[in-house]
Amino acid sequence: MHNAAYAALGLNWRYLAFEVDPKNLRAAIEGARTMNFAGLNLTVPHKLLAVDMVDELDASAKTWGAVNTIKFENGRAIGFNTDADAIVTSLRQDLKVELRGVKVLLLGAGGAGRTAALKIGAEKVAELFLVNRTASKAEAIAGEVKKQFPSVKVFVGYPQGEIDLLLNATSLGLKPEDGSPMDEKQFSLKQARAVYDMIYKPAETKLLAAAKAAGCRTANGIGMLVQQGAKAFEIWTGQSAPVAVMRRAVEGSVYGV
Ligand code: ATR
Repeated sequence: MHNAAYAALGLNWRYLAFEVDPKNLRAAIEGARTMNFAGLNLTVPHKLLAVDMVDELDASAKTWGAVNTIKFENGRAIGFNTDADAIVTSLRQDLKVELRGVKVLLLGAGGAGRTAALKIGAEKVAELFLVNRTASKAEAIAGEVKKQFPSVKVFVGYPQGEIDLLLNATSLGLKPEDGSPMDEKQFSLKQARAVYDMIYKPAETKLLAAAKAAGCRTANGIGMLVQQGAKAFEIWTGQSAPVAVMRRAVEGSVYGV
């Protein structure tokens, strides 16, 4: 998506992928700086490690405790996080969901679930319900959200009535044999107006298929992938990202369309 964006804007830039052993991350960042790279993206497991390896943390990286984007500026490495904003932007653009004042059920309390919960809290939803296989992790995140955003009502467990958004941040659905991330005895999809699955491959998880059948608006996580990239593009180049171009490139690569 980045190379498509550079081509669209006539920039003589290249985006390349490198596989780096976590034990060599510091050396890799130094190498990129020395070679005058404009910046880097980092993915699992480097996002947490990089927090201690940059010269400066942007507020986004401080808030989320993770760096997925580095910009080199006058020899300094500045760490950013573009993942959390991408959730909100994709929910808005792909699902027409505005988070302020609404009711949300969030499934999953791993890395993605924690970031989503805190970002949803920051957007001042009215009520946030957290469900996770390991309940203690949901409890811990509920505590963090309550502390940081006291106006948000936070519960661990399924809601009784209707909700505006169900968001899957578990990894269940990635594999064909995976079941639903949700206990259908405790919550019916008919109670949800919109369903977002952070998984984008397969394009339609069992959860999204069932949600469509139940009449919910649905979107998968491809928009989040595109939006975190678009934000990184803007950080590096200082130009508006050609989001539609980037999205077409991602869809072409992921779905072969
Ligand atoms: P990520 O960075 O993608 O969030 P993760 O931190 O490994 O990855 O978190 C995976 C999430 O999917 C967790 O919420 C996990 O539940 P646990 O906290 O109980 O491990 C959830 N998950 C993974 N496999 C699952 C399964 N078979 N059933 C239910 N939840 C599952």
